[in-house]
Amino acid sequence: MHPEGAARQVFLERFGRPPEGVWAAPARVNLIGEHTDYNDGFVLPLAIDRRVTVAAARRPDDLLRLVSLQRGERALRLGEVRPGGVDGWAAYAAGPLWSLLEEGAEVGGLDLVLASDVPIGSGLSSSAAVECATLLAARDLYGGPGDPARLAQLAQRAENEVVGVPSGIMDQMAAMACRAGHVLLLDCRTLGVEQVPFAPAGAGLVLLVVDTRTAHSLAGSAYAERRRACERVARLLGVPALRDATQADLDAAGDRLGEVALRRARHVVAENARVLAVADRLRQGRPEAIGDALTASHASLRDDYQVSAPELDAAVEAALAAGALGARMTGAGFGGCALALVPAGAAEKVTETVTGTFAGRGFREPEVFGAHPADGAARVA
Ligand code: GLA
Repeated sequence: MHPEGAARQVFLERFGRPPEGVWAAPARVNLIGEHTDYNDGFVLPLAIDRRVTVAAARRPDDLLRLVSLQRGERALRLGEVRPGGVDGWAAYAAGPLWSLLEEGAEVGGLDLVLASDVPIGSGLSSSAAVECATLLAARDLYGGPGDPARLAQLAQRAENEVVGVPSGIMDQMAAMACRAGHVLLLDCRTLGVEQVPFAPAGAGLVLLVVDTRTAHSLAGSAYAERRRACERVARLLGVPALRDATQADLDAAGDRLGEVALRRARHVVAENARVLAVADRLRQGRPEAIGDALTASHASLRDDYQVSAPELDAAVEAALAAGALGARMTGAGFGGCALALVPAGAAEKVTETVTGTFAGRGFREPEVFGAHPADGAARVA
């Protein structure tokens, strides 16, 4: 059944009344601009047509009853929802209520049913989709800010403080602000956005996503470590964030930074420039001209930022060998997904080559699917 129908039906069965409404927030893939968001830089994500759907209704008390069709059930009091107060998947669903309360909204109890067709832990940002869907539901039912950027910040605050992951703002902004047929050019410093047309099909192309279905345990600690490394370099260079650094600054600082820090910073500086170059080409209606930038991004993430994984490298190499115009890992790295921009006529060959390569290397069978730029979070019923 469609997730919206499933959420509504389970709500009726479980809570014995219909929901007051149904909300949905999409997963995303990031076309380019990786590990730039927490450096105040630029990113270019698109929402995809996989989403988290939430059926919700208010309660007259302070109870929060959460039913996830994928993860099980939890019940908690609103007062427990605070940094360190909730663990596991419930923190993603309940965390935004804490952010709304902190914002001064008068949030009360809720019954919530979550249905999702976003694979969990695949780097498609299922967590931001959960946060944004429940945040919108609570905001519509209890009140709160209307501005999508402010809402994205509240969802990010839930992730940073209640879940305890020091993520940037990209995923929540993508879930809130993306539009069908576009990629979202986001300036992570100002939260200024530009909807840049992206219609691969119109240019005879397909954007394939390769879900490697692997997540390496390093991911959490390495993410925080990369973030700290970038902040340290910015301090050493005397700039507010790496967004303000140039390659010339890095060359001049050279030895003072040390080899590893220099590489990390080189990735961020070059990646920001690639995002702007890709956005330019897309504005000119030339999606076929962005392949090299995608592949260069991958090389930089693999060699300088060092957040790739054997499965991601294999996916990228196999896709390129089979005719992709460009390919890269997408998301935080250490597993998760790669993407490949492929002439429509080569999509089948790319899929087969990637799948065959994985089998030959003893990797898990990947899931390969086409990504179509979709709309951001909204009330759907
Ligand atoms: C994760 C984080 C984002 C971003 C990416 C890497 O998805 O949640 O904020 O930092 O990794 O680009």
